[in-house]
Amino acid sequence: MKNAKVFIVGAGPGDPGLLTMKAAECLRKADVVVYDRLVSEEILGFIPRHAEMIFAGKAARDHAMPQDEINQTLVDLAKQDKIVVRLKGGDPFIFGRGSEEALMLAEHDINFEIVPGITASAGCGAYAGIPLTHRGLATGVRFVTGHCRDGHHLDLNWASLACPETTLVIYMGLINIEKISAELIKAGLPADTPAAGVERGTTPDQRTVITTLEKLPETLAKAELKAPSLLIIGKVVDLADVISWKTHAHESLLNEPS
Ligand SMILES: C[S@@+](CC[C@H](N)C(=O)[O-])C[C@H]1O[C@@H](n2cnc3c(N)ncnc32)[C@H](O)[C@@H]1O
Repeated sequence: MKNAKVFIVGAGPGDPGLLTMKAAECLRKADVVVYDRLVSEEILGFIPRHAEMIFAGKAARDHAMPQDEINQTLVDLAKQDKIVVRLKGGDPFIFGRGSEEALMLAEHDINFEIVPGITASAGCGAYAGIPLTHRGLATGVRFVTGHCRDGHHLDLNWASLACPETTLVIYMGLINIEKISAELIKAGLPADTPAAGVERGTTPDQRTVITTLEKLPETLAKAELKAPSLLIIGKVVDLADVISWKTHAHESLLNEPS
């Protein structure tokens, strides 16, 4: 294991232009890349031909490779003295299970590095014109999962989440949206709080719907938003009316995401 190293790399939310230079350098050096479903085709195109590619899957309820198997694969590949890139959507440490993989590598005394990526909330917020904080509208932001381990009910601390001064960003929230909306309103968040759903944020297929907390389940269903979609709830959503540059801009100085 003289040369072995595992890079746990965040690929960002989809637009290849949002890949960090460090992530691109890791891909160039890789002997093998273990990648998730959420990594876009364009980003996979950065992987050199000589590198072996292993698909690890990962969709809520549909794990192509169970997490234990992914962990073991990383250990086995490192033991073959390889440079391994574990490529994940968004940021590896935000609902990405990168920390579980890092713990396993540390347990086996394997050299590793974490390369952060742009998380979906930063990407979707920016590309939908929804700042996650804004003076006078939101003093903070909370990242929350809307999906629990299989067989477990979504049981969040609704009272602590129902704060009108905080933006709520919900990952993997589509499946439980009825419950999320109802519980937040029951806990005191006004029913007319602005709310958005962003599907495939930062990609050319991005779709955004804007409504209120109360109408969010109905609006998402009508628009047939599918995973991966992110929900953003809070007064900041109103700003999209004015600063959703992707729909307003006629041209960009940089290339549009391909
Ligand atoms: C398992 S989590 C992984 C999050 C990832 N580690 C990150 O930092 O963005 C998957 C969820 O992230 C959100 N997500 C990831 N990429 C997205 C995108 N391009 N547009 C909208 N939501 C996205 C969705 O809520 C999706 O169900």
